[in-house]
Amino acid sequence: MPGDGIGNDVMEATKIVLDQIEFDAEYVHADIGWEFWCSEGEALPERTIEMLENVDASLFGAITSKPKEEAQAELAPELKSKNLTYQSPIVRLRQHFNLATNLRPCKAYPGNPLNYREDIDLVVYRENTEDLYVGVEYHPVPESLSEELSKHPKWARFIERASLEDIAISLRINTRDGCRNIVKAAFEHAKTFGYPTVTIVEKPNVVRETSGLMVRTAREVAQEYPGIELWETNIDAMCMWLVKNPEQYGVLVSSNMFGDIVSDLCAQLVGGLGFACSGNIGDKLGVFEPTHGSAPKYAGQYKTNPMAMILTAKLMLEWLGEKSEAERLEAAVAKTILEGKSRTYDMGGTDSTLEVAEEVARNL
Ligand code: NAI
Ligand code: MG
Repeated sequence: MPGDGIGNDVMEATKIVLDQIEFDAEYVHADIGWEFWCSEGEALPERTIEMLENVDASLFGAITSKPKEEAQAELAPELKSKNLTYQSPIVRLRQHFNLATNLRPCKAYPGNPLNYREDIDLVVYRENTEDLYVGVEYHPVPESLSEELSKHPKWARFIERASLEDIAISLRINTRDGCRNIVKAAFEHAKTFGYPTVTIVEKPNVVRETSGLMVRTAREVAQEYPGIELWETNIDAMCMWLVKNPEQYGVLVSSNMFGDIVSDLCAQLVGGLGFACSGNIGDKLGVFEPTHGSAPKYAGQYKTNPMAMILTAKLMLEWLGEKSEAERLEAAVAKTILEGKSRTYDMGGTDSTLEVAEEVARNL
């Protein structure tokens, strides 16, 4: 699923590397992105969902999305009267396939001029389907909900000062299973790759119930992993510690929103969007994607860094159990970065997306 814009550039580059590694797979192309919203009124066509039911794993480039008015304006004329609303395909994929685990490794490869420090090796496990991002939101607040909330002593403060039209509510919803799933994934990672600690990043002193459930569940899960220590930190302090002493941390685990925030911080410590890879993992399907978007101003110009997408393919290989291929690929990426013979503009170079991929392929 190359998708839109530079999604195509970096996917083409990654295919060069996967072909060189002789990864034994059949590739099937799936439609996703802005073009299909415009022509069909759906950025994630049903045929793509059906196809994904029958693949082992998926590589996704990036998609473009635009504000409401522009989305309506670009719809094909015959679709304009149909009252369609744009939905993010990646959010839909996460929900449809219950891709509850979001995995975001952030490792400093020596020699990268964009590294904050060279000794950083972090992995963020972010819950992907719950929390403040569930979309249960109200504005204005319905009368019936206000009545229910009046049973809570803290609600009076709001309705004394504001009308229901002037209050917005977004619910943060976490489940015990959701918390357990993400914390377990983090501990399993620590066990497999030999990290001595797992750090839970929350705010249980203030958000007592939702963050509290995460932390209490993490303490329970930690009992199942003797030898791996659970560290507990608050999201705000953690942002400070990550800037001060990033080398002291290994596996981080968090709920959806705090995980979103902390993973962007971690990504920037090791070179930013050109290096940030991620996996959305469910029981049956893994959808692997770079963190960056479609960067429309560079679309089709083969200027942007393919490393994020190539490292994304490495994550996919690892998840598929192709351990030695994953290691070979990572070693080739590390060598390419260290030698610095081929670099895209963000690393101070002038090479194209495909030239960097060819250099990685040579280094395999
Ligand atoms: P973006 O990530 O597409 O690009 C922002 C800037 O970061 C680029 O202009 C470029 O300077 C730099 N950049 C991004 N990827 C790079 C790479 N591989 N190498 C070097 N530099 C790179 O974010 P933006 O501009 O906010 O969004 C553009 C479009 O992408 C929007 O339509 C947005 O909705 C969509 N988007 C899609 C995502 C996805 O598919 N998962 C994620 C983020 C944005
Ligand atoms: Mg984000």
